[in-house]
Amino acid sequence: MTEVVATDISTRGAPPVGDVLLDVRNLKTYFKVLDGVVPAVDGISFSLRRGQTLGIVGESGSGKSVTALTIMRLLDIPPASIDPESEVWFDGQEILSMKMDVMRKLRGKDMAMIFQEPLTSLNPVFTVGDQIAEQVKLHLRVSNKAAWDRAAESLQLVGIPSPERRVKQYPHEMSGGMRQRVMIAMALSCEPKLIIADEPTTALDVTIQAQILELLKSVQQRTGSALMLITHDLGVVAEMVDNVIVMYTGEVVEQGTVLDVLTEPRTPYTMGLLESIPSVEKRGGRLSAIKGVVPSPFNLPPACRFEPRCPYAWDRCHSVAPQLYSVGTGGQRSRCHLHTPEGAGRLSAALEQHRVALNVGRSVPTEGR
Ligand SMILES: Nc1ncnc2c1ncn2[C@@H]1O[C@H](COP(=O)(O)OP(=O)(O)OP(=O)(O)O)[C@@H](O)[C@H]1O
Ligand code: SF4
Ligand SMILES: [Mg+2]
Repeated sequence: MTEVVATDISTRGAPPVGDVLLDVRNLKTYFKVLDGVVPAVDGISFSLRRGQTLGIVGESGSGKSVTALTIMRLLDIPPASIDPESEVWFDGQEILSMKMDVMRKLRGKDMAMIFQEPLTSLNPVFTVGDQIAEQVKLHLRVSNKAAWDRAAESLQLVGIPSPERRVKQYPHEMSGGMRQRVMIAMALSCEPKLIIADEPTTALDVTIQAQILELLKSVQQRTGSALMLITHDLGVVAEMVDNVIVMYTGEVVEQGTVLDVLTEPRTPYTMGLLESIPSVEKRGGRLSAIKGVVPSPFNLPPACRFEPRCPYAWDRCHSVAPQLYSVGTGGQRSRCHLHTPEGAGRLSAALEQHRVALNVGRSVPTEGR
């Protein structure tokens, strides 16, 4: 099990040390809209080492996609704005301040993104071979023939049968699962150091989902790329990732190794997410989703943003915003006052209640990793 890299804010302005590939520091991305300002990503920090997999989870609207799009520099500015104090270091360079033409060269070559719905990202009027070859030519400066060979090779790599025939097909001639494989092939065609996959299997049926995830894992092992995997699905996280961050209303509320966060969650929010996974025993029974709704970004609770939904809240949670407390010895962090001396009794109650809710003894599926 790998250790979580804690970002030290004192390193501001300097590249990260060691084998850190991606270092996100106090990232804030806001949208100015008619009703006001949406703090979509509100001061998050995390790191990803070369070759490793980081999962980002959280309910809808928590800022997962905006985080990915900010790192890829794919947001329109305005309406989006990125705080000038924020830093994103990728492969030794700060990329938020990078000129856009330099960034474009990086994108597709060293960092690539896989979106949820491949039909919206593939161009319907070009064959898939054209699209992959075009990207290869743009970034690797090779001949047409070499680019087409690389396109067929990447289709083969992602398990598409008869790649020489498939390269000549248009996206609409393929099934959803096949198109997602093409997207992965395109992302991998230049052997990027980082792949960001935003809900890559949500639009697919369960069997194809499992195949695509297996594929992502095996190509990642072969190519040594790091993977940032955004998902709603904690089962997928358990299967796929080394470290995980849990987001709520634009903030990181918990982070740590996948084993720590899934088996020893330390915020009521993560506990609630885990309790809402249907277990084999509970299947057919009532699914316990987290009570209440995600607050409007225009009307966030004054201190802890989870307070209106939290069964363990007390008056401190309404008046003092919790910081990310270090918990345990493996780098786990939790944004929750339960980790103050005043919260100790409530923490014990929360952990006990969590054990009961999970039907004592039920284990989170970490085998197969
Ligand atoms: N272009 C935009 N203009 C204004 N607000 C936006 C825009 N894009 C995202 N947001 C807001 O930013 C917040 C974070 O959105 P984001 O898409 O990152 O959520 P998410 O965690 O990816 O959710 P989901 O799980 O549904 O994909 C939400 O409140 C969303 O409404
Ligand atoms: S800080 Fe308070 S309200 Fe927020 S999650 Fe912890 S116990 Fe609940
Ligand atoms: Mg999203």
